[in-house]
Amino acid sequence: MGLSARQLFQNHIAFTNDAPLALEIERAKGSYLFGKDGKSYLDLISGISVSNMGHSHPKIVKAVQDQAAKHMHILVYGELIQNSQTAYAKTLTDHLPSNLNTVYYVNSGTEATEGALKLAKRATGRTDIISFKNSYHGSTAGALSAMGDEHFKQNYRPLIPGHYIYEYGAEEGVAAINGSTAAVIVEPVQAESGIRVPPPDFLPALRAACDKWGCLLIFDEIQTGFGRTGHRFTIDEHGICPDILLLAKALGGGMPLGAFIGDKHLFEALQTRPILGHITTFGGHPVSCAAGLAAFGLLNQGALLASLEAKGQRFEDNLSELPLGCMSRKGLWMAIHFKSFEFNQEMIKRCLERGLLTDWFLFAPNALRIAPPLPISNEEIDFATNTILEVCHEMA
Ligand SMILES: Cc1ncc(COP(=O)(O)O)c(C=O)c1O
Repeated sequence: MGLSARQLFQNHIAFTNDAPLALEIERAKGSYLFGKDGKSYLDLISGISVSNMGHSHPKIVKAVQDQAAKHMHILVYGELIQNSQTAYAKTLTDHLPSNLNTVYYVNSGTEATEGALKLAKRATGRTDIISFKNSYHGSTAGALSAMGDEHFKQNYRPLIPGHYIYEYGAEEGVAAINGSTAAVIVEPVQAESGIRVPPPDFLPALRAACDKWGCLLIFDEIQTGFGRTGHRFTIDEHGICPDILLLAKALGGGMPLGAFIGDKHLFEALQTRPILGHITTFGGHPVSCAAGLAAFGLLNQGALLASLEAKGQRFEDNLSELPLGCMSRKGLWMAIHFKSFEFNQEMIKRCLERGLLTDWFLFAPNALRIAPPLPISNEEIDFATNTILEVCHEMA
């Protein structure tokens, strides 16, 4: 008999840590993942804010099938006119401020970061980049240089020079912007520190300082975008408009897709000296664009966006009696901060045993991640919160 999938996983798949979750998943539908043994898991993490419209939505599956039947990859990015790319770019930018009118598609979030940082350097002729502590913009060398956590960076040096990192939400980062700054890259709500909303004057102050010094403001909405915070994008809530917007994760409706978005004139900087100075083979894959367009249509349909804050509030209300942990929340995106990583790990393990899939955060390993598919029902929310409460009481 051949090796089991578990043994093959053990033998042939590269791990990112010593103890991967290693659940064997056969299929996924709506808010649930289904294991090989038929056991169902209510998904509280959406593949880290990717499957915002739930799993295997029939309209997204059909869009994928239809596009695959027409054509898949045909040529490197940016040479041919491909309907799924152009249709999605038009629809997306119709929902963004007018200076965010042009889309450069890539494959992932980290590539969106890389592209934006290169674009900022070319557009301004400057080299310095400002970012913030506990920020995560991706794992490739450029994005890692902007990451606000020394623990994750120290063994990969030398990284890219000219990166300066300041306290998130504080005046020091605003004061540091000067005539050498090419760009400031910031998450409008910090994800991996465990859902941190900055003080209300932070983003306006960054915008004003970037305007004053002629540098670019880059918003990383890779995790906050597509309804996660209760708004289509955080821009819709605070009204502060970046020069470059980074999208990925839910952008592809469950398929790999990233983008950096800005003004048409800005992108001219990448067209010359050298030509082809930033290229990608698979960026804007037609099947990913078709899936993303279908998912974006679903997000904008009916009352879904308007329902998200109430769903988040239901989580918060149901968990208000939670012993041992405190919650931070923005929209349908939450972190329950427990006393330690070990405690949180045990919570995650026991929730999983009861059919609830959760996770922790990169820079807040003591915090339990809640980022369910956006169409999650009230009954599913109640199951999730009852399970968390039950496990929490058991461990008290
Ligand atoms: C805020 C943020 N930026 C960038 C990235 C990198 O995206 P990707 O994993 O697609 O490269 C992530 C991924 O978790 C993220 O959360």
